Amino acid sequence: MKKDLLIMGIETSCDETSVSIVKNGRKILSNIIHSQINIHEEYGGVVPEIASRCHIEIINNIMKKALKEANVTLNQIDGIAVTHGPGLVGALLVGVSYAKGLSFVTGKPLIAVNHIEGHIAGNYLTHEELEPPFLCLVISGGHTYLVSVISYQNFEMLGKTRDDAIGEAFDKVARVIGLGYPGGPKIDVLAKQGQPCIKLPVTHLNNLDFSFSGIKTAIVNLHHRNPNIDKADLCASFQKVITEMLVTNVKKAIQQYHFDKLVIAGGVSRNSYIRNAFDEFAKNTQVNVYYPEPVLCTDNAAMIAACGYYQYINGERADLKLNAIPNLKIQEPIKE
Ligand code: KG4
Ligand code: ZN
Repeated sequence: MKKDLLIMGIETSCDETSVSIVKNGRKILSNIIHSQINIHEEYGGVVPEIASRCHIEIINNIMKKALKEANVTLNQIDGIAVTHGPGLVGALLVGVSYAKGLSFVTGKPLIAVNHIEGHIAGNYLTHEELEPPFLCLVISGGHTYLVSVISYQNFEMLGKTRDDAIGEAFDKVARVIGLGYPGGPKIDVLAKQGQPCIKLPVTHLNNLDFSFSGIKTAIVNLHHRNPNIDKADLCASFQKVITEMLVTNVKKAIQQYHFDKLVIAGGVSRNSYIRNAFDEFAKNTQVNVYYPEPVLCTDNAAMIAACGYYQYINGERADLKLNAIPNLKIQEPIKE
């Protein structure tokens, strides 16, 4: 019988401190997530220095909790996978330095994980049967990508945002209309009480890229001109238009490349309107649609461990020169 492989994942790229233990890349034994949302809420967004400080204070305890909940010892772990980019440099450095320290004292291999590839791998934890190739729509606070996932480690970028990330647009709109941070979940809830009756501009580009700054600016202007505008209607209209942009590009990519599986990943994939739209899309096509369970959409270390597992079995190892790369691209080789 093949030995089970246990990978520890460590994630500190933004405002979640998370450590997880995953078995064979697919089964979560523990996934401890400490969110700093209530601290940053007061400032209307993530304050990088505060995020780094919070990570430092808590990471060792989170690691101990993850081992305890998984009922394993540090000695039983086969590899330590850590997010080394993209993200906030100070926040990333806490996880990277901590993982390097652990690797040094235990002699366990270190694996450098790209956060975006981690989001994609979050789906392997929810759908045990899911395997590449597939089309992945990554929609998160900092990223919007259409990616062809050729194999576990082989990606081709088909489209990306030319300006704001989709989550950024959600958060900005929410802040302007006074819903607070993080805005995505608040817009999702309020939109259910409104009608998509406000006309907003839709940006369709010729290729598979996205642009969300036009709709964001239109809403900001509408709200400034008419502060009494119905917020629920505004949220419903915003979600409708933004979803239309996503669905249009996904359809184009599927027509062009003939994918039969569509995987959605990242924090914004928690959005109920977007999920419904893609469920409808799946009903009317031969394409199967997959999303991670809600807790695996937003930042967590289980997705980093799952991604790290496939790198581990592929022989990928990082060394103690590993550094944080705030603007790391998908598949970019590790720079020393
Ligand atoms: O993936 P994530 O945790 O962080 C990044 O890697 O960027 O995504 C966070 C983003 C935030 O912009 C948040 O507003 C958004 O995900 N989000 C949502 C929902 N839940 C989280 N956006 C729309 N609807 C939601 N239900
Ligand atoms: Zn993320």
